[in-house]
Amino acid sequence: MKTFARALCGAVSMIAVTAAAPALAEPKAEVLHYWTSGGEAKAVQALQEAFAARGGEWVDAPVAGGGGDAQAAVLRARVLAGDPPAAVQIKGPNIQEWAEAGALGDLTAVATAQDWDKVLPEAIQNIVKYEGKYVAVPVNVHRVDWIWANPEVLAKVGAEVPTSWEEFNETADKLQATGIIPLAHGGQPWQDATVFETVVLGIGGTDFYRKALVELDMDALGSDTMVAVFDQMRKMRGYVDPDFPGRDWNLATAMVMRGEAAMQIMGDWAKGEFAAAGKVPGVDYVCASTPSDNGYLLNSDSFAMFNVSGDDNVEGQAVLAELILGTEFQETFNLFKGSIPARTDVPRAEFDDCAIKSMDDMVAAAEGGTLLGSMAHEIAQAGAVRGAFIDVATAHFNSDMSSQDAVDQLVKAIKLAQ
Ligand code: BGC
Repeated sequence: MKTFARALCGAVSMIAVTAAAPALAEPKAEVLHYWTSGGEAKAVQALQEAFAARGGEWVDAPVAGGGGDAQAAVLRARVLAGDPPAAVQIKGPNIQEWAEAGALGDLTAVATAQDWDKVLPEAIQNIVKYEGKYVAVPVNVHRVDWIWANPEVLAKVGAEVPTSWEEFNETADKLQATGIIPLAHGGQPWQDATVFETVVLGIGGTDFYRKALVELDMDALGSDTMVAVFDQMRKMRGYVDPDFPGRDWNLATAMVMRGEAAMQIMGDWAKGEFAAAGKVPGVDYVCASTPSDNGYLLNSDSFAMFNVSGDDNVEGQAVLAELILGTEFQETFNLFKGSIPARTDVPRAEFDDCAIKSMDDMVAAAEGGTLLGSMAHEIAQAGAVRGAFIDVATAHFNSDMSSQDAVDQLVKAIKLAQ
């Protein structure tokens, strides 16, 4: 992607997105995103409405397909055609790569006016800055390592949300014995990778996760611990119903809501689905972090402003950037999305217990050194390396490949991808 992005954008210099001053032109923005599920659509609509309230003309460019892989292909094609959208939902190392290619506008003016350095945690600043300058505006923090469970269904086997992987397996075995689907899962590679990384975190621990998935340490990748991770993944596969291939993640969430399955392992965008369906946390569903040694797998959505021409577009980008990090909008958006605000000074009063847990756990993890970027959701890795992890995780999940073969393939694939 690096070479590709560089070749596309060549020496195009970074334009500066100015802080929204008295409008010289009607603000306009074509916004590329992949928020198409019930909860996601509500959240993006809140942004659309806030933009319209500022006189903005929103050109919606949604690409269906959770996890953003389909959108990435559309973005590349648009840039290749010399016609990038004004604002694009991208994250992690992708931001750095597009910035390095000279494709992104510089958000320094807005960032200075709103004092982003003061209100954003360092972990988020590092994601959205390129060479010390802001090139993307963060919308939220999504935690990935969550279990979403239906308490009534768990109660049928006298269980509560498991707090260790042994307990997870015991509960799942009991559920299965009574004909209940233990794990709601959608069969798409990124969903397999989402479960995989929570298992890496839980079975291996935070240090192992860092070594294997962040630092790409070959000893960790080829270790017996990784064999144990794939052993657990084989168990997980056994807890999923036979109709899972191709299922969207939100349909898996709906299975938990309807009591057809007991649990789902998914980031807290799943909470956006529960919220959109009027479900109440602690009553209709419960949230718990997947078992680990106080790990926190961080994912954060943000918008980057691509170099576009036309005063209306440039004005639109400035208005959007300012709007997105506004305290009020951060609250509204994240209540719909299931995530927590990217800025740390948003009042907590409206947020539910799951969100408060996420806020507290994130601070504790940052202090304790257990805050880790998600591999599946493009924070720790992007491009070919992330692709290699996902390919092996999904190939193993969807076949009878042995754990040792999966580990051997993983080592080979990551070596090749680097
Ligand atoms: C994104 C979320 C999105 C989810 C499902 C994640 O990678 O960060 O915003 O809701 O994928 O599409």
